[in-house]
Amino acid sequence: MLSVVQILAVVGIVSLVLQLYRLLSFIWLYFLRPSTVHRYLHGPPAYALVTGASDGIGKAIAAELYNQGFNLILHGRNEAKLLNVVDQIRGSARARDVKYFFADASDADHDFERILAPFKDLNITVIVHNVGSSPLTREKINGLSKTDLMDIINRNAIFPLMVTHTLLTQLHLASRTGPVLVQFIGSQAGELSPARLAVYAGSKAFLKALARGLDTDERVWDTQTSVRFAYLNTGQVQSSTMRIPSSLATPTSERYAEAVVARMGCGWRQYCPYWMHSIQAWCAQLLGESAADTFAAQAVADLIAVHEKQS
Ligand SMILES: NC(=O)c1ccc[n+]([C@@H]2O[C@H](COP(=O)([O-])OP(=O)(O)OC[C@H]3O[C@@H](n4cnc5c(N)ncnc54)[C@H](OP(=O)(O)O)[C@@H]3O)[C@@H](O)[C@H]2O)c1
Repeated sequence: MLSVVQILAVVGIVSLVLQLYRLLSFIWLYFLRPSTVHRYLHGPPAYALVTGASDGIGKAIAAELYNQGFNLILHGRNEAKLLNVVDQIRGSARARDVKYFFADASDADHDFERILAPFKDLNITVIVHNVGSSPLTREKINGLSKTDLMDIINRNAIFPLMVTHTLLTQLHLASRTGPVLVQFIGSQAGELSPARLAVYAGSKAFLKALARGLDTDERVWDTQTSVRFAYLNTGQVQSSTMRIPSSLATPTSERYAEAVVARMGCGWRQYCPYWMHSIQAWCAQLLGESAADTFAAQAVADLIAVHEKQS
């Protein structure tokens, strides 16, 4: 029979080993692991599809993937803005294909088959579902219209779902020559569900569950494939909507995009691509729900104040 002291010692050693494993995984993922993004450059010319690519994180991820050797399919809603990005990327020294399409992701009734038809014969090996945002407002949901609420859900959750639904058969075909990766850009809001961001947070939590479930779909039962899905937990990043100074904890969109692309193929289904966001997520867990709610509410209040000053 073990004494209380022995039981406590065993518990202590087990939790120490777990923390050590976590620390070593952290060091490996963020500082030692070589990039494996080139694994997705296989078959006929490989294409990466990036949504919300006319600005911010999406634009930076598109440029980074192009630099890594991918042809691109870019999505945006503002024709002039997206074409400018296409020109910028095409204008660089390398000569790969850059295609594009327009769709307002907040709209409910797209004909996705038609929108994506021009790309149906392409070898798409990477998708980054980046489009998304939420209004920064002091209003609770009863201060927003039904249209406002549905817009948030459509652009953050339904649009990525329907693009994935439309392209899945094509991704299965592409996976015959190598691995295929579908990533959803998530948010720390999806974990913390801060005040005034409940609908946005719910949409990101939907993506988290979707990524896990779709990944499991590909791994189990009779038809295992090499299509993989991942949810990327994202903290604050300087971008066109997040016009705040960059810092160690708030990377620029370009620095964040480098981190996203560097971790592609790491095999994790849910992770923070950027190391400081990972530390923040860990601290939020340690804080406990009540303290995390207070902290997140203050952070959102500060963001709203900045946003109001800028607009
Ligand atoms: N920045 C952060 O701190 C942060 C934190 C957590 C998660 N995220 C997530 O990261 C992703 C990118 O955010 P970001 O900060 O880079 O945003 P951003 O700078 O505002 O860029 C968003 C991109 O999505 C496009 N877009 C927005 N609404 C659209 C719509 N209804 N239809 C089609 N395109 C639309 C924008 O197009 P226009 O150029 O036409 O506006 C732009 O290309 C989002 O999913 C966001 O939720 C960001």
